[in-house]
Amino acid sequence: MTIIVTGGAGFIGSNFIFHMMKAHPDYRIVCIDKLTYAGNLSTLESVMDDPDFRFVRLDICDREGVDKLFAEEKPDIVVNFAAESHVDRSIEDPGVFLQTNIIGTATLMDACRKYGIKRYHQVSTDEVYGDLPLDRPDLFFTESTPLHTSSPYSSSKAGADLLVLAYHRTYGLPVTISRCSNNYGPYHFPEKLIPLTIINALADKPLPVYGKGENVRDWLYVEDHCKAIDLIIHNGRVGEVYNVGGHNEMRNIDIVKLICKELGKPESLITFVADRKGHDMRYAIDPTKIHSELGWLPETKFADGIVKTVRWYLDNRSWWEPIVSGEYRDYYEKMYGNRK
Ligand code: NAD
Ligand code: DAU
Repeated sequence: MTIIVTGGAGFIGSNFIFHMMKAHPDYRIVCIDKLTYAGNLSTLESVMDDPDFRFVRLDICDREGVDKLFAEEKPDIVVNFAAESHVDRSIEDPGVFLQTNIIGTATLMDACRKYGIKRYHQVSTDEVYGDLPLDRPDLFFTESTPLHTSSPYSSSKAGADLLVLAYHRTYGLPVTISRCSNNYGPYHFPEKLIPLTIINALADKPLPVYGKGENVRDWLYVEDHCKAIDLIIHNGRVGEVYNVGGHNEMRNIDIVKLICKELGKPESLITFVADRKGHDMRYAIDPTKIHSELGWLPETKFADGIVKTVRWYLDNRSWWEPIVSGEYRDYYEKMYGNRK
């Protein structure tokens, strides 16, 4: 079995590769990654020399390159993680989000059609459903919640989802889609809330919280997401969407306070800054379908996962220090320098 994993030098893709190589030691894993600012080859260091692993630096929008790789590898399964993934960056500059997230998805699926595939899996997001109001805790996203996006990022992901379903209906491509809530864990890029808070707190720097910090996200430990995708690509029904989430809703401000407590840092580091434009209020997944059809349930409780994650950042400075001392500094200055 050969699986092409795109975006495998990023946060979730790399964790997925580690999971798959452990869970299915007889599989061949081919990772395609463009190595954008968010891709980091050092993350894959531990598997680079494994004979069942191949890394190819490639843009998923590069039709010729993708075609050549499919001809060489003849994959059984493609799992597409490759994306521009940061909402704030999409608000600054939407173009590359449309290119990678939509055109890249179509390019991969065209190669799947040409060479044949057992399964094309699209890694999507709960953000395609838009947001839920804070005063209706009884409401959750189900797979039939209408798509209703807020940011250029989520719109590009929703566009890709629609294309995936269209390729299934029109060409009979055997597809599945997973729509997961917010992940956290090792190798999470420092621009995102949890790693940014840990890293800033360690340096006694201000901890920027957008608006009043009341926005709610439904956090899932990354390994649980990887296990869900593993189940879907093997046992999920073709043409179906599966929501993935852990019933673990937390307000941003409470997450930031928890990290301060875990690191023994004062809450006075918390700094309320201008809100994100179009900021989604609440995400909450109803995971009934994946639970009842595939038996999936999250295994890591947030209380344990966040401690493990903080510990990982403490123990792996050599992974994130080069990132935050490089071009990330310019990004940080641009995004947070004047954010009053
Ligand atoms: P990430 O930003 O950490 O990693 C993205 C990876 O894709 C990087 O390695 C990058 O180099 C690569 N990439 C970007 N453009 C590419 C291109 N044109 N060709 C090839 N590779 C390219 O993202 P992540 O947080 O790991 O998210 C992975 C996927 O999961 C995304 O599709 C995202 O929409 C989805 N998702 C993320 C979350 C989350 O909480 N992070 C939750 C649900 C769904
Ligand atoms: O829900 C799934 C989505 O989760 C994925 O599709 C995205 O790829 C992923 O980036 C994530 O999106 P969010 O926008 O929810 O994640 P982020 O870490 O950027 O922000 C989490 C919350 O914290 C959000 O309400 C904005 C807020 N925030 C974020 C940053 C970076 C802050 O208050 N301060 C910050 O500095």
